[in-house]
Amino acid sequence: GGAGAAHPHESAIKHVTGRASYIDDIVAPADAVHIALGLSPVAHGRLTRLDLEKVKAAPGVVDVITIVDVPGHTDIGPVFPGDPIFVDDEISYVGQCLFAVAAESHKAARLAVKQAIVEIDEQPASLDPVAAAERGEFVRPTHVQESGDWQQVLDGAPHVLEREQFVGGQEHFYLEGQACLVTPTEDEGVVVYTSNQHPSETQKLVAEVLNIPFHAVTVEMRRMGGGFGGKETQASPWACIAAIIARRTGRTTRIRLPRAEDMRVTGKRHPFHNRYRLGFDDQGILLGGDITVIGDCGYSPDLSEAIVDRAMFHADNAYSLGQVRVTGHRAKTHTASNTAFRGFGGPQGMMIIEAAMDDIARQVGEDPLTVRKRNLYRAGRDVTHYGQKVEQLELLHDIVMQLEAKSDYWARRRAITEFNANSPIIKKGLALTPVKFGISFTAKHLNQAGALLHVYTDGSVMINHGGTEMGQGLHTKVCQVVARELGLDLERVRITATRTDKVPNTSPTAASSGADLNGQAARDAATQIRERLFDFAAAHFFKDQGGLDREGMRLENGELVAGEGESAHRIPWGELVQAAYMSRISLSAKGFYSTPLIHYDRQTAKGRPFYYYAHGAAVSEVSVDTLSGEYQVTRVDILHDVGDSLNPAIDIGQVEGGFIQGMGWLTSEELKWNEAGRLVSDGPATYKIPTFGDLPPVFNVELMQGHPNSQASIYRSKAVGEPPFMLGMSVWSALRDALSSLTGYRECPRLDTPATPERVLMAAEALRRRQ
Ligand code: MTE
Ligand code: MOS
Repeated sequence: GGAGAAHPHESAIKHVTGRASYIDDIVAPADAVHIALGLSPVAHGRLTRLDLEKVKAAPGVVDVITIVDVPGHTDIGPVFPGDPIFVDDEISYVGQCLFAVAAESHKAARLAVKQAIVEIDEQPASLDPVAAAERGEFVRPTHVQESGDWQQVLDGAPHVLEREQFVGGQEHFYLEGQACLVTPTEDEGVVVYTSNQHPSETQKLVAEVLNIPFHAVTVEMRRMGGGFGGKETQASPWACIAAIIARRTGRTTRIRLPRAEDMRVTGKRHPFHNRYRLGFDDQGILLGGDITVIGDCGYSPDLSEAIVDRAMFHADNAYSLGQVRVTGHRAKTHTASNTAFRGFGGPQGMMIIEAAMDDIARQVGEDPLTVRKRNLYRAGRDVTHYGQKVEQLELLHDIVMQLEAKSDYWARRRAITEFNANSPIIKKGLALTPVKFGISFTAKHLNQAGALLHVYTDGSVMINHGGTEMGQGLHTKVCQVVARELGLDLERVRITATRTDKVPNTSPTAASSGADLNGQAARDAATQIRERLFDFAAAHFFKDQGGLDREGMRLENGELVAGEGESAHRIPWGELVQAAYMSRISLSAKGFYSTPLIHYDRQTAKGRPFYYYAHGAAVSEVSVDTLSGEYQVTRVDILHDVGDSLNPAIDIGQVEGGFIQGMGWLTSEELKWNEAGRLVSDGPATYKIPTFGDLPPVFNVELMQGHPNSQASIYRSKAVGEPPFMLGMSVWSALRDALSSLTGYRECPRLDTPATPERVLMAAEALRRRQ
């Protein structure tokens, strides 16, 4: 049951039997009040009148608040200012919060909201990020990374590819929506129960909004019904609003956003407009170029500085770009503030070079896989455009070679080429795409974690840490780490809800680093307990025989073992713990970890922002009806690198889930806003996430074996949360491959994303017209 074993998720049985408790399952006192929000119906304008008299008089209403009722800070921007808790004067998007109503029931609150008289001096909304960028309307300054004389390389390159692409955004569609419950404490504080990836930040913002010290606010988080980045910063506003009302009314306060509202008021994955000029030689090998990414950030900074940075860091994906300039703009538009989403901008950046690989292959007349392999980082071409040396160089080559063989790539390529030659309408496509993803928060200070470990006198162990559980299996992995360090069965180790009063000043559970950081912190705590118990045991047991040998002492199978073979002394864990307690030895420890080696200088745009890279590759096959644009993904093979896995069962689940979510992003999940800036795809009827029926009928997922992390990560494992998301790119590439057959594989069509059947059909028609 220790680290490395394929143990089920600690809540697996609870998840499938419905016994896992989420925010809305918490039973509140009978006098709890329920919140509904008054939201802006327009994207841009000035609030000229807000008359809430009829709202206040509506049946069941207990309290109504606006910006003037906020006791402390009114700006709840998570990193940079720019997010007013309620509109003061300027309105910046449809769905922005104008006021909040608390009532005896959720229904009463929602009905009361409708009684508001709202007058707005409406102004034209800026909804085109490219135009915004041209006008210099940014939420954060532009950042540029440069390596070498890219201009000279472009001028002298034998071939130059010049393209543009639009990469769509994505709704998180966590199954549990934004939800929060706040109880007032007997002093000036609150306890906040929230579905939230970043409890410490919510603690800070709630305290600032209430104008009380942080120690008066406790945030508790047991599990989320999915976060995917959407609850890193954007779970806090609801907690802040509920906290104000809880303090004003002295009653427990609950807020739960209905799905359509949730989709309208919260930010999404950033849509990106990418432009690039890339020089390459006759072999299709990249020489250098000029890349510009424009992230559509919405109305405020939120996390966009780091998200567009990550797009820039991943403009190379797995390939040496040569001498290149990468420019990243953060365009301001009048929509909800776009935010973290699995991959954090990385996927949008990688789409550039994956598109280019396919285009270059057609131009030089090679299979796209051949061109991809030629461009992989290798000895002599192993430094990224931001100056980080790529380690484990052989690993990505091994993954690609093994997957090529396992998936039978070349035989299937021949069969598909033959099939397409004889099939005028149905066209098949195949693509292998690699992924290299940097692991660490690029905001250096976030790469730290804490843990708190208690051993009770019956020998049961409780571990608590700063990470949050959103279904990804973090808690299971951390329990496994503790079980391994203490030589115990997993059953003896229990984890409790994440709480800011147990482990303080924590980082968000994000950047895939939850297990890396919190696993190490838990290990640090467990190591302290173990060493303390060894010291105690050496001095305490078998005193008359000279004591136990401290050297070589170990904890295994629920026992402390001293010495070797027949003469070894064994003391059961429970007995050891009891004796330590009776001898007044502390059985509690706190652990801490901070990631070594990492740094990045935004002035020079150089450094080593990532502790290591995680890798993977996928082969996808598609079958496209070129008369309707409809298609199926018929087979997927994945080989993914998690170093020495902490838990292969959970890791395979993450790879499968990440891949399917990435596939949905690039194929069926289409966000639509009308001309007035109102999101019209605001529910499952209009926004299509992959369903059971969209799973490829053949779906082979394996973890790469025999390549432990070259860095001293927790047991040489690697982060798994985000990297597999980007394997979904192989589906998109396979669609372009199928379409390319319409040109005799001489060119590849532009295919913006999501590549819905409509877009696929339009691309096919455009190609046919040109033939
Ligand atoms: N898996 C599940 N089931 N639910 C989630 O919300 N979020 C993803 C990924 N896997 C998510 C998930 C995202 S965006 C991240 S950053 C990581 O999990 C966070 O957890 P970790 O750091 O513990 O891997
Ligand atoms: Mo994940 S986007 O880093 O929460």
